[in-house]
Amino acid sequence: MSQSWANSGLDLHLDTWTRGRGSRVRASLEAGLRAAIQSGRLAPGTALPPSRALAYDLGVARNTVTEAYAQLIAEGWLIGRQGSATRVAQRPGEVGPDGAATFPQSAPPRYDLRAGFPDVSSFPRAEWSAAERAALTNAPSSALGYGSPSGAVELRAALAGYLARARAVRLRSDRLVVCGGFTSGLGLIADALRARGIERVAVERYGHAKHRAVLAAAGVRTFALPVDAGGAVPEGLDEVGAVLLTPAHQFPLGAALDAKRRSAFIAWAARTGGLIIEDDYDGEFRYDRRALGAMQALAPDHVVYGGTASKALAPGLRLGWLVVPPTLLNTIVERMDASHQQPGVLAQLTLATFIESGRYDRHVRRVRTAYRMRRDKLVDGLTRRAPALRTIGLNAGLHLTLELADSASETEVVERCAARDLAVDGLAGYHAGGAPDRSGLVIGYATPPPHAFSAALARLLTALD
Ligand SMILES: Cc1ncc(COP(=O)(O)O)c(C=O)c1O
Repeated sequence: MSQSWANSGLDLHLDTWTRGRGSRVRASLEAGLRAAIQSGRLAPGTALPPSRALAYDLGVARNTVTEAYAQLIAEGWLIGRQGSATRVAQRPGEVGPDGAATFPQSAPPRYDLRAGFPDVSSFPRAEWSAAERAALTNAPSSALGYGSPSGAVELRAALAGYLARARAVRLRSDRLVVCGGFTSGLGLIADALRARGIERVAVERYGHAKHRAVLAAAGVRTFALPVDAGGAVPEGLDEVGAVLLTPAHQFPLGAALDAKRRSAFIAWAARTGGLIIEDDYDGEFRYDRRALGAMQALAPDHVVYGGTASKALAPGLRLGWLVVPPTLLNTIVERMDASHQQPGVLAQLTLATFIESGRYDRHVRRVRTAYRMRRDKLVDGLTRRAPALRTIGLNAGLHLTLELADSASETEVVERCAARDLAVDGLAGYHAGGAPDRSGLVIGYATPPPHAFSAALARLLTALD
């Protein structure tokens, strides 16, 4: 017989006997719960209804439910904790309903100095909530429909003002497409390139592995450009239809793209009709060098500019934006429309309010000061404890690179850090393929929450001793 439980706001559908001897009802309840867990219908971590409520709803005695829960706890299907709800347990090597193993849930490292993350504990929760409340109050009901595939007009207007003011981007709001982070935007660009018959894209020899994977998934082959103290080297471009660059702050080596090379990339794009994809992932964070404006301003018809809220706010927001040249705009918007990957409208309207009210700039200034202090502490520690090692890319961003003698020392230091429960990446993971020509650690000093930063730093320095 089917029953549902709804009195305290949770629905739990179970196929179970509710009549007959208590032991039969209990066995049937246990079997129903086991089957629901085994099939994946009740996922690990799901809170079950309190025994009194479930008993009321099923019309059975309360101790029938408590005994069934106790039995399933003993068998490892459920977890019971004093003072909190009984939950579905996570079981190692679990197999999902389709026969595939469930996604492994590895324990996060206690200390984390991996690059690519801001300090998410500094996310301005109260200010974001206030902006969200204001956005929801002011939005007409029509704003809650499917909306434009380019993104909410309010956010595009706010971003157009911000990007022109703070990053010197040349744009009108109708050239902006809001996307689910830069990585998702890159997927749209890759699809649009393929639609134009472009099969090869140049990438920096050291760069984000996920970005190379996104290009590969779209069927685009990559060609690696050398990277040195002046950023990416513009050579061998005859073979490619587009180039992906991090001009303001090469990721992860930290150089700003040399002015002559900027001109050379732009001259190539103008001559061949090639496209430059500018990944401006941490343009807000400059410490002791002049802020570099976006490369897009030099050639708005040849550059797709990409930005993200992942560094200044939080990656979990999944909010990013593209400023697209007119020739590519329709294709990108069509791809977005077909992909159904637009970020939720409420998050878009909240970010618009956050920017327009000045909270975004205030937050960036606040965290920039905090990250700069962390960077100074890290450089100070490295200078004292590992004076022979050279650091590069210090004057901007949320990470720096510490050069090591060879790949063996890189592996050894990463392992020594891991033995101290500290996660840090070696340069090899950023290399586009072939034999890496340099070794080192990429240290993301923004990643740990403030209370864990000193301990993470101490562990790193001990591992380097
Ligand atoms: C080089 C680079 N570009 C862009 C991003 C941002 O990607 P997304 O906006 O998809 O979070 C990151 C984040 O780690 C990055 O390291």
